[in-house]
This record gives sequence, structure tokens and C-alpha cells, in this order.
Amino acid sequence: AGSLTVEELAGKLNKTTSELIKKLMGLGVMATKNEDLDKTSIELIADDYGVTVEEEEVVDPLDIERYEEEDDPAKLEERAPVVTIMGHVDHGKTTLLDGIRKTKVTDTEAGGITQHIGAYQVEEGGKKVTFLDTPGHAAFTTMRARGAQATDITILVVAADDGVMPQTVEALNHAKAAEVPIIVAVNKTDKENANPDRVMQELTQYELVPEAWGGDTIFVNVSAVKGEGIDELLEMILLVAEVEELKANPAKRALGTVVEAELDKGRGPVATLLVQGGTMNVGDPIVVGHTYGRIRAMMNDVGRRVKTAGPSTPVEITGLNGVPQAGDQFLVFADEKKAKQIGEGRAVRAKEAQRRQTSRVSLDDLYNQI
Ligand code: GTP
Ligand code: MG
Repeated sequence: AGSLTVEELAGKLNKTTSELIKKLMGLGVMATKNEDLDKTSIELIADDYGVTVEEEEVVDPLDIERYEEEDDPAKLEERAPVVTIMGHVDHGKTTLLDGIRKTKVTDTEAGGITQHIGAYQVEEGGKKVTFLDTPGHAAFTTMRARGAQATDITILVVAADDGVMPQTVEALNHAKAAEVPIIVAVNKTDKENANPDRVMQELTQYELVPEAWGGDTIFVNVSAVKGEGIDELLEMILLVAEVEELKANPAKRALGTVVEAELDKGRGPVATLLVQGGTMNVGDPIVVGHTYGRIRAMMNDVGRRVKTAGPSTPVEITGLNGVPQAGDQFLVFADEKKAKQIGEGRAVRAKEAQRRQTSRVSLDDLYNQI
């Protein structure tokens, strides 16, 4: 916050950009028109022109929370919980996700086709639950660093034959830091050497104490391969979701987070988005991270074309001018011009930031050589 590019400052001062660049040079600051100026430089210049600086709140147009605040409480509606599965390598995260999908997705037309999608939705007792596959640890951390919260509940998968391992601890620390409720799924209980009690015992060291032992952490024994315990796990997810009172306003322009994105040979940039608020429509102008476009087509988690997508819905879109990154935020705009303007502005700023970082790195290298 509190920064302006040279061009923006020139506009505010009613000067030309080149005049300002010259002025900056006079003050010993070398800058291009897209350079971000810090507060001190801005004040120096304003002073030189005899203008006082009044700091106005600089808001990132894609700042999700800003839009969330505008929600009229009367328009909030219940939404599906978004669940992330985490745990140590080989403890059965993918198998569990597949198992849940297999047990719960009754869409026969999609049956048999295992598509790679980073997110999907199932239904239990008339209630929907959204599962995110991708936020692996890295994406989870990035999202948290950016203040984006895409997950409501974490399922911590621990193999009953292996117990608590380093990445189990890492995962639970992530969830705790993000203040996301944890449900423990003790997996591989079908194995002969499975020892679910040991898992409970080990997790008490990390303040995850089962209800049976006087704590408040929900533990569910499952076998992902046999499909055992999945109904109970879903019931527990819904129970936790109810306590969380998850709500969103479907009656506004959509916003949310990128789950994954890639360049498809035939379709161009393809992004899986999680809608967190509002409703997204085919044809909507959109800014996604540093990319923008107009939504050309939308596909749901079973590969069907859809025209709209509401809160907590994962959807794959095409129509962007580039490939965004997992963890990027997106926002739908009312008109395409605005989306283009903001998207291009963000791309320029990102490049500029990267350029500055690169030059800093090379300077450091230089010093190291001396
Ligand atoms: P990474 O993505 O590599 O971290 O692993 P993962 O946690 O996704 O584990 P994955 O689902 O790939 O499972 C690892 C191995 O454990 C596979 O061989 C699975 O078949 C096996 N496995 C997973 N769940 C169960 C289970 O409930 N019982 C048994 N017996 N084997 C399981
Ligand atoms: Mg896996």
C-alpha cells in the first residue's frame, strides 16, 4: 500500500510522465514510467511542486476481502464446505479422494472416465461438499501468504500402519496456522498391521485429542481402498461445516481462487477456478491473477458444460489471455474494457516487480564477487 507508479503520480500532479522522470533524475532517482515509487520519493516530489500528499487507501482491485465486506447480510446463503486433503506421502490422500468420488458421484455418464481435475463436488444427504485436490503444501502456503483462504476444513490423512510422519506434522501446522478445523482420517485400517490407537496417541502430542479421550478432534477410521468409513467421514465434514456456518452471497459478480491452470494445445489457457462468492456466467469479463479475458466456456467437475457456477463450485474455464498460477485470485468485472485495463495493469506491475527483483539479485551477486 501507499505506492504509485511514476505515470500515476504524474497524472495526479497534472504533469507529463517525462517531466516527472526528469525531476526524479534530478533527485537522484532513476525510474521508468511503470516504476512503483515509495512513499518518501512521492513526498519529495510533491514537496518540490509545493503539493501536500494525502495518503488515500490504495486497494488492489482483486482484493477479495474488500468485496466480501460489501456483502449485504440479508443476501448471504448457505454454501458447501471446501475441504482439502493433506497428509504424509503415500498415506492415501489420492486414493481417499478417488474413493469418495467413486462412492458418491452417481453421474453415470461421467462414470469410468477418470479425468484429471483439481477439484470436485459430491453430495451427501442432499448437502454438497467440495474437495480440493491440489492445494499441496506449497499452494496452501502461497494462498495463506496472500491472505486468501480457500479451505474451510482440512482432512488430515494418517496411515494406520505408518503413524505420524514429518509431513503429517507439517500439514497439521499449516492447518492450525490458517485456523482451519482438522478432521483426522486414520487410513489403511484394513491392513493387518494397522494400529489406529497409536495414531491417536501420537497426535495428542500436537493437541489433536480425540473426543473419546476428552478432546475435541474428530477421528474417523477409514479404508480408502475398501471404501470403508467414507459415509461417516462425510457426515463428520457436514457436522463441522454446520458449526462453521459457511455462507456466501451468490447475487454478485463472482470472485475466488485458482486451483490449477495449464496451457492446453487445443483450447489455450485452461484454469480450474473455485468460486468463493457470487455467481459466474459464460461470457463474463474476468481478471485472473495477471491474466484476463472473457469466459468462453465453463465445465463442471464431471466434464459437463455449464452456463453458471455459484459459491463453492469448482469449474474449469477457457478464454483467458494467459496461464494464471494456482493460488491466484480472480474477479469478474461488469465490462470487458475494465477487465482488460486492470488485467494489463497487473501484468505490467508483475513484470516490473520481477525485473526489479532480478536486478537486485544480480547486484547481490556482484557484491559477493568483490
Ligand atoms: P502422494 O500423493 O504420493 O503423497 O501419496 P498419497 O497420499 O496420495 O497416497 P496414494 O493414495 O497414492 O496411496 C499410496 C499407496 O497406499 C497406494 O499403493 C494405495 O493403493 C495404498 N493405499 C491407500 N489407501 C489404502 C488403504 O486404505 N488400504 C490399503 N491397504 N492400501 C491403501
Ligand atoms: Mg497422491
